Amino acid sequence: MISLYIMHDFNYRHKYLYAEDVRLVDLAKKAGTPAYVYSRKSFYDHFSKLDKAFRKKPHLICYSLKANSSLSILRLLAGWGAGADIVSGGELYRALCAGIRPEKIVYAGVGKTEDEIAYAIRKGILLFNVESLPELSLINEVALSLGKAPRVCIRINPDIEPHTHSYLVTGKKETKFGISIPLAREIFSDRIKWPGVHIAGIHCHIGSQIIEISAYQKALKKIIPFIKKDLEPRGISIEFLNIGGGMGIVYNKETPATPQNFSRKILPLMKGLNAKLILEPGRFIAGNSGILLTRVIYIKESWGKKFVVVDSGMNDLIRPSLYNAHHEIRPLISKKGKRERVDVVGPICESGDFLAKARLIEELKAGDIIAVMSAGAYGFTMSSNYNSRPRVPEVLVNGSSFKIVRKRETYKDLIRGEL
Ligand code: LLP
Repeated sequence: MISLYIMHDFNYRHKYLYAEDVRLVDLAKKAGTPAYVYSRKSFYDHFSKLDKAFRKKPHLICYSLKANSSLSILRLLAGWGAGADIVSGGELYRALCAGIRPEKIVYAGVGKTEDEIAYAIRKGILLFNVESLPELSLINEVALSLGKAPRVCIRINPDIEPHTHSYLVTGKKETKFGISIPLAREIFSDRIKWPGVHIAGIHCHIGSQIIEISAYQKALKKIIPFIKKDLEPRGISIEFLNIGGGMGIVYNKETPATPQNFSRKILPLMKGLNAKLILEPGRFIAGNSGILLTRVIYIKESWGKKFVVVDSGMNDLIRPSLYNAHHEIRPLISKKGKRERVDVVGPICESGDFLAKARLIEELKAGDIIAVMSAGAYGFTMSSNYNSRPRVPEVLVNGSSFKIVRKRETYKDLIRGEL
């Protein structure tokens, strides 16, 4: 499906739901349920659309691993030229394993430990996005002890309201992220205090699932005058301007900007700046590139209410429980029959364990398989073994073929490492 806002390759042909050219009922027979299914083509289309939209400006797309860090996906993105946005030593390890070059890796997060900092410096990453003064001092010390001079960008918290779920807001002053502009001004002025690092630019990530481009514009309207009026006149040049990730996608009825519109509104604000632009999209690339397949175990009726009990729960996909997030539900075989209002719930022992609430969907019966749509970002990466449930397999579709790229965990996997 290609429209102005949404682009993915999970569509019906007659009554069957396909991933690219693979009929999902056939895939489910081989992979079992629950299972995450990704479309290579959707990943590529999202990445390349964004990359093309910014072609007029020197830029680097640092894909945000936290959205989906499957090695197979990372290997594809590495091949298309993507860098990585990481927030832990583990993500650095994954990115390097997948062949993402260290000089394309940027490292954010408020709680980088000394070991993680040393690991990243030794590997020669492009830069750290620094979130506090004590962190800057620690990076400086570790760098001096290693005899290296890593680059850092100062993550600015511009105090902007991005109008998204409160847990996904990161650029307002009451959040733990980033550094205020006045403090950033002091850091740039006093930069000789940190001789071990090279302060190379500015980073700003104001939140996630942002629909209004005006939020980015407002942030830039604070940051760019700071660069042009405060820093440049004092001979401080900015080599990198990182505008973070956060671009919203369509889960339900949202109308986010296309990458083209996004770049058209953002790039003019950067006129006259020589800095290389960095973007850190996660959800935009991965969100609509994956789905979660789950099988109906029971149809339960209770006090006049209908529950569709499925074999997947909040441990596999926590977004509905944690953020009240909407994910479309589609049957793998659509009978275009009667629709009814149901709760789609999992087997976990909590009332917060649901995939959809009071949702009008086609009548289902035990044994039917459904797709939970838009589950490619923050799906598998946020999954857990809660209730001692093995984590589900990940399957990558490419045209008319597919491959299980991560095996379903076994009961033995559940106790591995316990003494
Ligand atoms: N850069 C930084 C510094 C970030 O903290 C994040 C996301 C990104 C980039 C990528 O943001 P994206 O383009 O994916 O919106 N678990 C939540 C989302 C948390 C996002 C955290 N930071 C969810 O399921 O909606």
